[in-house]
Amino acid sequence: MRDLVLAFYLFLPAGIANAVPPILTRFLGPGRPIDGGRQWRGRPIFGAHKTWQGLIGGTAAGCITFFVQRTVDHLDLPLLIGVLMPLGALCGDLVKSFLKRRMAIEPGRSWFPLDQLDYVLGALVATAPLMPLPWRIVASTVIVYFTLHLLVSAIGFALGVKESAL
Ligand code: CTP
Ligand code: MG
Repeated sequence: MRDLVLAFYLFLPAGIANAVPPILTRFLGPGRPIDGGRQWRGRPIFGAHKTWQGLIGGTAAGCITFFVQRTVDHLDLPLLIGVLMPLGALCGDLVKSFLKRRMAIEPGRSWFPLDQLDYVLGALVATAPLMPLPWRIVASTVIVYFTLHLLVSAIGFALGVKESAL
């Protein structure tokens, strides 16, 4: 249980980075697509759901989360982690969308379980060189954020905010 709580706290900047883009879309409307509508081999590179507003806003929110945690809890972690973790999370999300488009899956259609894991895997990969972690914490991080993603989606679906439960 201790590992799960620690994993949740340590990777909170990645969780926030992933949660902010859909909120921005809801309040600001769809942003400008990162791929500018360009295609690769006849299909969108990332698709219209991957926007600059989501990438920048999500990374900024994740950075702020990290710096607050670092200051309040006097964490002895390199400052660079604060940028690498949220950026890694959203790059993982981009890689996932790139793969979905290659497989002709439309933006917004669910792709279980990669939709639930992309951001946490991206954050783990991006921070691994600066923050080597015991495998128990890595496994706990994957379990916590996979479960949280499912939970938040289910709540969003029940409230009518999300179109699909997954
Ligand atoms: N979003 C964004 N910019 C990003 C990432 C996400 O604006 N870089 C917003 C979009 O409104 C997107 C929502 O967050 O619809 C949820 O993101 P996600 O579930 O990862 O994307 P999908 O809509 O499922 O699209 P895709 O099929 O490309 O994964
Ligand atoms: Mg995502």
